[in-house]
Amino acid sequence: MVRETELSARHLVQPLFARPGEGVREPVDSMPGVERLSINELVGEAGELLAAGIGAVLLFGVPSEKDELGSGAYDSEGIVQMAVRALKDAHPDLVVFTDVCMCEYTSHGHCGFVRGGSVDNDITVELLAKTAISHAEAGADVVAPSDMMDGRIGAIRHQLDEEGHPDVAIMAYSAKFASAFYGPFREAADSTPAYGDRRGYQMDPANGREALREVALDVEEGADLVMIKPAVAYLDLIARSRDRFELPIAAYHVSGEYSMLKAAAANGWIDERAAALETLTSIRRAGADLIFTYYAKEAAGWLG
Ligand code: PBG
Repeated sequence: MVRETELSARHLVQPLFARPGEGVREPVDSMPGVERLSINELVGEAGELLAAGIGAVLLFGVPSEKDELGSGAYDSEGIVQMAVRALKDAHPDLVVFTDVCMCEYTSHGHCGFVRGGSVDNDITVELLAKTAISHAEAGADVVAPSDMMDGRIGAIRHQLDEEGHPDVAIMAYSAKFASAFYGPFREAADSTPAYGDRRGYQMDPANGREALREVALDVEEGADLVMIKPAVAYLDLIARSRDRFELPIAAYHVSGEYSMLKAAAANGWIDERAAALETLTSIRRAGADLIFTYYAKEAAGWLG
């Protein structure tokens, strides 16, 4: 009766990995319960999610080919573009978020165009805007740039409006830290950088005030939702953003945070259901409206 925080399926978004093929469900070793799905399987999975009360998914693509320019990211026949069309066709009410980034599509695994050994911010922003347009054309409801280049929210908003997609929303990964908790995802998405790391564009885990500055910039540039990522190690920043900004706030309970719970549960060291629901509740309590979590479907089942 006096409980302050509510956790329900409508607050959860399920990340999904689309891969080429037909009838394929390929497990990700480092993320028990997570599979890379071919498009027909993805459509079936989305139906189950909707039935469980999960109304939204975040799509990542695992393409069959990669190149220096990450051209699969903005190909109208790319894996994500085809998956979005199939999903919206089968489930018009499903809210489809798409990941806008290049790391799954570049041969070197960096989140942008590499010139002289480092990522070129401004060329990358142009390619990201092109990617966002291709997702909008396929029917995406929300594009979600996870690259962390400067100025990309404004550029994407401008381009979407210019090309007839004023209703497509942008969720900015505003404060995305250069975190050790993305390891399992990089196995799932096959996006580990071939050299170097992402500290040139992702944030220093030690910087809280800078994170708020990044959120403020994305708000100014036209973001519709802002995200803090990872979630659990950065609950303070979810809370501080909640106090300071009016926009919906999303938090990403990332792969490493998920796999740690799964690993401890598999060893019998924790009560998985209780620990997972406590974790998700704490992210809501900190102030997140939406939680992106690999636990979405399972948690929806537990929550009934
Ligand atoms: C790509 C991207 C990453 C994640 C989401 N989008 C990985 C990275 O930045 O290396 C991580 C998600 C997770 O760990 O669950 N830019």
